[in-house]
Amino acid sequence: MAARICLVTGASSGIGHATALELLRAGHVVYGAARRVERMEAVRAAGGHVLETDVTSEADAERAVRTILGERGRVDVLVNNAGAGLHGAIEDVPVERARRLFEVNLFGAARLTQLVLPGMRERRSGRIVNVSSIAGRFSLPMVAWYHASKHALEAFSDALRQEVRPFGVEVVVVEPGLVRTEFEREAARELRAFSGGGAYRRLAEAMARRSEGLATVRMSDPAGVARTIRRAVEAPRPRLRYPTGHLARPLLAFAALTPDRLFDRLVTRIG
Ligand SMILES: NC(=O)c1ccc[n+]([C@@H]2O[C@H](COP(=O)([O-])OP(=O)(O)OC[C@H]3O[C@@H](n4cnc5c(N)ncnc54)[C@H](OP(=O)(O)O)[C@@H]3O)[C@@H](O)[C@H]2O)c1
Repeated sequence: MAARICLVTGASSGIGHATALELLRAGHVVYGAARRVERMEAVRAAGGHVLETDVTSEADAERAVRTILGERGRVDVLVNNAGAGLHGAIEDVPVERARRLFEVNLFGAARLTQLVLPGMRERRSGRIVNVSSIAGRFSLPMVAWYHASKHALEAFSDALRQEVRPFGVEVVVVEPGLVRTEFEREAARELRAFSGGGAYRRLAEAMARRSEGLATVRMSDPAGVARTIRRAVEAPRPRLRYPTGHLARPLLAFAALTPDRLFDRLVTRIG
């Protein structure tokens, strides 16, 4: 397989870090992008390139793509993986925080997509892999903004796929389940800070305990998700969606098959 020129965002931790290493092992040219460059030393050591990039910054996004185009002439694959969470009741979380979340989870991915598309269209070849989540297919209380951002990314990806397919560009959505990364680190603290003292405190505390309990729950290794992303990058005819990681398929099936009111009752049971 010919080496692809790949840009992987969020390569400093978790799924993005593992993906950068997996794609390097497969012989691809990899540019890892994130804010914490010191956390991408392993990517550099494995032969990858490191770009200090805040995906919410227009200047950073432009510079990252310009650097790759200058050095390689093209971007074959964009893996929009950079992402963050936000926990707390809708009534309690300042909308400004939600806006910032969307800047990373949706608009950052969208801007990079805009920057790589002209070259992909001209060459009639390219692939955009958006790392969504099973959270993009159903919603839970106290995580509204994260769910909303991933639902938005799913909708964005569907429309993008419909627009760019005639130009030979593929769009793939990867939907991880429970994966052990730094992702949940702030969850319990945010739940208590935003909603621990008000009308939603019981549910917030229950969710915080559930999040803390995840430390003992089986979760997938990010390397497994990285292998799925590699398949999504390399498959001659990729699937549109790749659920991957612990509980991804059963939870998606459960959410799809459970009537809405029953789903609501089940996920708001406190305790
Ligand atoms: N872990 C899970 O169970 C799970 C499940 C489903 C979906 N996901 C999705 O998987 C993706 C990766 O998450 P993870 O689990 O690997 O979490 P993680 O370990 O917390 O990694 C998040 C990555 O995103 C980067 N990032 C955050 N804000 C950024 C910004 N403004 N600019 C550039 N990079 C930024 C971080 O880099 P810097 O801080 O260095 O910038 C980091 O590399 C996310 O999109 C997440 O929604 C995770």
